[in-house]
Amino acid sequence: MNEIKVSPKGRVAFVSGANRGIGRAITIELLEKGAKKVYAGVRNIKAMDDLKPEYEGRLVPVLLDLRNDRSIIKATKLAKDVEILINNAGVYEAGGFCADETLDSMAINFEVNVWGLVKLTVSLIDRLKQRETAAIVNISSVFGLASMPMAGAYSASKAAVHSITQGLRGELFATNILVMGVYPGPVDTEMTKDLEIEKDSPVNVAREIIQGLIDGKEYVFPDVMSKQVGELYLSEPITVEKQFAHYVSQEEEV
Ligand SMILES: NC(=O)c1ccc[n+]([C@@H]2O[C@H](COP(=O)([O-])OP(=O)(O)OC[C@H]3O[C@@H](n4cnc5c(N)ncnc54)[C@H](OP(=O)(O)O)[C@@H]3O)[C@@H](O)[C@H]2O)c1
Repeated sequence: MNEIKVSPKGRVAFVSGANRGIGRAITIELLEKGAKKVYAGVRNIKAMDDLKPEYEGRLVPVLLDLRNDRSIIKATKLAKDVEILINNAGVYEAGGFCADETLDSMAINFEVNVWGLVKLTVSLIDRLKQRETAAIVNISSVFGLASMPMAGAYSASKAAVHSITQGLRGELFATNILVMGVYPGPVDTEMTKDLEIEKDSPVNVAREIIQGLIDGKEYVFPDVMSKQVGELYLSEPITVEKQFAHYVSQEEEV
């Protein structure tokens, strides 16, 4: 595999879903680490107003709705000088494969988490190839490594993100582009507000991701739980699957 280290200092980044949660923390971390410019892909352009004074001209909010092709094209036309693409935006629609809502939850999760990510990446890939060094960072999930029952549709979408990341890495082997997969466990954001378990902070997760770029890592397990899952996954992937299945059956017994 190629060893490409991508320090954000002096570079231009594009973050999807930059207005809250992990995306907002990544945006701030990039700017704090000296990024020249960060395009903040958001559905509400005013959502970054509170940060703009602090980062003056370096923070550039850009309208981006991953369910709207025209919005993707317009946003990526603007971001001509991008060097680091962070595919962070995502949705979590609960549901497994044995419910009436299965097809709906598959469609919702895939529309944003998979198709949106692919469309944004394809729109920017030629630009990234033109840079001296560049990076594509895809936020998958530990559920992308093994499926969590009752969140099967979301897990499948994140497994697709994992596979897309591997595919891109293979295709871009021996180029200037670092392709990083990020596999978070539970992080304290809007997405997990109803989940009563221990969660890491978006700030910690963002720091690990940006450090991963600086170190040229291809796999990043950015929080306490994902570090444990990641270690197990790298040695015994089937045990992770069994543990996730067992976790849900234990919850149901309580
Ligand atoms: N939190 C966790 O425990 C956890 C664990 C593993 C992986 N992840 C992944 O980490 C990423 C960030 O999640 P988060 O926890 O920060 O969630 P979050 O707080 O719910 O933020 C999701 C972000 O995605 C944006 N988004 C949703 N649909 C979009 C669309 N159609 N077009 C453009 N942007 C859209 C949201 O924008 P709006 O505000 O406009 O809706 C928001 O900025 C996601 O890919 C998620 O799957 C999270």
